[in-house]
Amino acid sequence: MNQDIILEVKDLSVSFYTDNRKNNAIRNVSFVAQRGKTLCIVGESGCGKSVSASAILRLLPELSRIENGEIKYYGREEPINIEKVDPDGDLIREIRGGEIAMIFQDPMTALNPVYTVGYQISEMLLEHNKDMKKDEAMKKSVELLSAMGIPQADQRVNEYPHQFSGGMRQRAMIAMAMSCNPKILLADEPTTALDVTVQAQIFELMDNLKKDYDAAIVLITHDMGVVTELADNVSVMYMGYVVEDGTVDEVLRTPAHPYTKALLASIPILGRGRNQKIEPIRGSTPDPFNRPPGCQFEPRCDYATEKCREAMPEREFISGEHNVRCYCYKEVLKDE
Ligand SMILES: Nc1ncnc2c1ncn2[C@@H]1O[C@H](COP(=O)(O)OP(=O)(O)OP(=O)(O)O)[C@@H](O)[C@H]1O
Ligand SMILES: [Mg+2]
Repeated sequence: MNQDIILEVKDLSVSFYTDNRKNNAIRNVSFVAQRGKTLCIVGESGCGKSVSASAILRLLPELSRIENGEIKYYGREEPINIEKVDPDGDLIREIRGGEIAMIFQDPMTALNPVYTVGYQISEMLLEHNKDMKKDEAMKKSVELLSAMGIPQADQRVNEYPHQFSGGMRQRAMIAMAMSCNPKILLADEPTTALDVTVQAQIFELMDNLKKDYDAAIVLITHDMGVVTELADNVSVMYMGYVVEDGTVDEVLRTPAHPYTKALLASIPILGRGRNQKIEPIRGSTPDPFNRPPGCQFEPRCDYATEKCREAMPEREFISGEHNVRCYCYKEVLKDE
């Protein structure tokens, strides 16, 4: 067992049961987060990124269920099987925020409208630092807000979330997540709503958390540009499956899945000039209630053969840390 692994998600499946219909939101998803490393989970809207992150903290929406798999947390002396703990119990509450912090896509899911921003950050600090005094916690809250680029933080700290702009709420939530120096930071599209300068500041803070505190970062994004800048490891998701994963070099330099390749072809690469060919991926993602019978990417894939229409390919090991779910990956690699 690699000592650097702090979280291991193994064969995790989560389904939603709505209107007598079942949606297999994520299927046999596996990935690991390592101390001092950033794992980027990338994929189009609806592929299961947020569901994967919510499962780790046992914050899954109603009507959903963990069907199978393991979520193993190695941050304590004894490993903890998170999929088995009581989702309303003390153990997960201690872990949430203190040891595994999450930055959500929507800041209002993390901020409580009836308390001031400063009160909420202080409470988080006090809950996870038994020796801290109240005024110390408030002072630290101001520092954190200020470090997140919130002007007049000493006054703003007494305001309520609705008095903050969208971007400021996002920053307040990130300050809260960073406040306890978590061992794992789960960040779900943390900067989508922010301008590029603030985005850069936030990524720098996350990088510091990784370098200075040896934290593991799990960063969810649909932006391949972010992946190239921040990732050590990458998991590419499509329709609930991890279709390719490996180190950032393996996945970006030698993409083995046609979907990864298509994702890379659909982003402009800096320095390649104005005449580069940018190709959108043809077709659209299937309806999760009406899935293709075989490989989920088959209807959009240029490499597809008869076999691809029969069953979803198993995860196959290529080399190093590189894995793929594709019958045709050898052809794809040949085309590089
Ligand atoms: N609260 C919910 N109720 C029912 N189905 C849901 C719910 N949340 C997610 N799903 C379904 O689970 C699947 C995965 O959704 P998820 O939110 O994880 O996607 P995502 O990759 O985070 O997308 P995005 O990039 O748009 O945030 C989708 O098919 C979605 O419709
Ligand atoms: Mg999401």
